[in-house]
Amino acid sequence: MKEKSTKPWGGRFSEATDEFVEQFNASVGFDQRLYRQDILVSRAHARMLARIGVLDDRDCDKLLQALDTISAEIESGTFPWDSALEDLHMNIESRLVELAGDVGKRLHAGRSRNDQVVTDVRLYLRDAIDEIDPQLEKLQLAIITLAEREVDTIMPGFTHLQVAQAITFGHHMLAWFEMIHRDRARLSRCREGVNVSPLGAAALAGSGFPLDQEYVAQQLQFEKSCDNSLDAVSDRDFAIEFCAFAAILFMHLSRIAEELVLWTSAQFNFVELPDRFCTGSSIMPQKKNPDVPELVRGKSARVYANLFALLTLMKSQPLAYNKDNQEDKEPLFDTIDTVNDCVIAFANMLPHLQVNRDQLLAAAQLGHATATDLADYLVRKEVPFRDAHEIVGRVVQYALAKRKRLDELSVQELQNFSPQIEEDVFDILSLQGSVNSKNTYGGTSPQQVAAQIKRAHQRLKEFGVS
Ligand code: ARG
Repeated sequence: MKEKSTKPWGGRFSEATDEFVEQFNASVGFDQRLYRQDILVSRAHARMLARIGVLDDRDCDKLLQALDTISAEIESGTFPWDSALEDLHMNIESRLVELAGDVGKRLHAGRSRNDQVVTDVRLYLRDAIDEIDPQLEKLQLAIITLAEREVDTIMPGFTHLQVAQAITFGHHMLAWFEMIHRDRARLSRCREGVNVSPLGAAALAGSGFPLDQEYVAQQLQFEKSCDNSLDAVSDRDFAIEFCAFAAILFMHLSRIAEELVLWTSAQFNFVELPDRFCTGSSIMPQKKNPDVPELVRGKSARVYANLFALLTLMKSQPLAYNKDNQEDKEPLFDTIDTVNDCVIAFANMLPHLQVNRDQLLAAAQLGHATATDLADYLVRKEVPFRDAHEIVGRVVQYALAKRKRLDELSVQELQNFSPQIEEDVFDILSLQGSVNSKNTYGGTSPQQVAAQIKRAHQRLKEFGVS
């Protein structure tokens, strides 16, 4: 049997922790990154204890000073992290006692690692959200820049990945803008759930000290305190909401990524990525691979997995805190890092996208993209839409057999299908005419796209997460 435990909680233990268990139990390898938040929380707690008379002012000052020293040690890389001390909270507390002497032992009155850790995580996530949102805005601005540059660039619009109708490139970009805008709205709602203070919940039941929870919440710029102490220490739904936001964001980013991968292929050749965002092949000298969009598409896998990890972690956990919750950090941190990396990568890359206008136009000319316009033309000449659809279907069949585009057919050829067709049909059979005519709100005409760009700028101005 080993000697008595030397842990901060070792009082009731008669033997030291098994070495393997010690390593297995330790979270300090990954929770260190909460150190800034942990120190902020300790500072607020110390001040609050002094306010309510549990700590005298001199002791409080000593604690604050020692916490400053610890912060400097961690930042300079000299802090003596020790996995035998389990997690960052006990590492910091143990160093506090070394630096401040017995006063260091007074700080943990009225709190538990259970409310401490979840407070740290909430603060950390709030900071991460406040960093991510401006990056998302930057991505939106990059997208708008492309839309502005290509307001009237004609391209094929697809349904089923078959040419459907001509659209403008600017219009396509603004569809991306909308996706990211809703992601930002989700992030903003998520922040509200995150920004609540669990302090004062202590282990689970609240505290016997008359803690000033409002004061600590204010010090840490929380909106309010949690309304139930059991819930405060046990739930991680705020982290799940963030991971859900991220999963939906990556669903969008993966769609953008997929389009970029398709569009840069030799078969499409719609756009070109700058060389510095691509890589070559070690065997095929001609290759230029779209690694950045492919990686973003690929990283959606871990982001979805992280959401499922947290959902599964919390499923069926009885109240209140369980050690399972130590497993909340890695999926959350990984999600934050992945969101940051991928949004920055796209925001940096997109403004340098080179758009091959000739190729886009040529692609739009394939696939009889103005067939619907011809049907609409017949409707304006009093033909019922279903009949017009049938007539144009036959025109397309004829054009396919003749290997001609619709606007290459003569008026005489067209009149064989419907006597209502006249010379003016060529105004709408051209791609430009087709695109200009789609002037409904949110539609693809350059006029509508210009209006959407204006609104997009306005909405960005009005929007802010924090
Ligand atoms: N390292 C722990 C975590 O991340 C801190 C809380 C531990 N609380 C406890 N009662 N063992 O969740």
